[in-house]
Amino acid sequence: MFQFTLFGQCADMEPIMALAAKYGLYVIEDNAQAIGADYKMRDGSVKKAGTIGHIGTTSFFPSKNLGCYGDGGALTTNDDELAQKIRIIANHGQRKKYYHEVLGVNSRLDSLQAAILNVKLNYLDDYCAARQQVAAYYDKAFEHLPNVITPAREANSTHVFHQYTLKVPANMRAGMIEYLAEKGIPTMIYYPVPLYKQEAFKQYWQPGAVLPVTEMLCDSVISLPIHTEMDESLLGYISRSVTTFFSH
Ligand SMILES: Cc1ncc(COP(=O)(O)O)c(C=O)c1O
Repeated sequence: MFQFTLFGQCADMEPIMALAAKYGLYVIEDNAQAIGADYKMRDGSVKKAGTIGHIGTTSFFPSKNLGCYGDGGALTTNDDELAQKIRIIANHGQRKKYYHEVLGVNSRLDSLQAAILNVKLNYLDDYCAARQQVAAYYDKAFEHLPNVITPAREANSTHVFHQYTLKVPANMRAGMIEYLAEKGIPTMIYYPVPLYKQEAFKQYWQPGAVLPVTEMLCDSVISLPIHTEMDESLLGYISRSVTTFFSH
């Protein structure tokens, strides 16, 4: 099973783990957007995103919450046997140099990126807090806009806001993007094409199949700028521009 933690909150992992246990499945927890988030277990204990599945995966792409200066990523696990297998696969299938046990890939983390991440890892909580402050600012700025739905917070997870994603009426979104672009404010749609319509999954397409909630979200989501270095004047400018768009 593969579980995404999209935009910055954990998926509800406990039922997923229970289902996996029932059917003897491994769970891979994609933690690329939620690194640093806390998941509240039913018994009141707290676990970090990416540590609940059998394997956690994350991306250190520069725009991620914990980004390096190029491409990078990591897998995490508490299972020594799995850890060993993963290390071998990531290093051309070798445990011992030039002895290839299995078909592997070159997925070693570059030393330069590792050195950068070693420092930045100490600041992950600060990065999360900075993003949460941006989100709180936007929440407040948009709370009275009738056409704008701000991001929901799940009860069992904190939110580290890899993205700050609004829902707006589908027929207003293109105009909003254009209006903000004219003001120099970039926006993004995550994601324009749902997984079930990707060409790469064509062999699984079912004729006529439509996922209405997915379609509705693809047509109405819009992500605003969010990062760790946004000051009040920038946030004010973006918020005022969004508010003006919806007020005329
Ligand atoms: C949820 C999620 N999973 C996986 C990836 C892939 O990360 P990478 O490009 O570093 O392999 C991304 C990056 O955009 C992501 O957002």
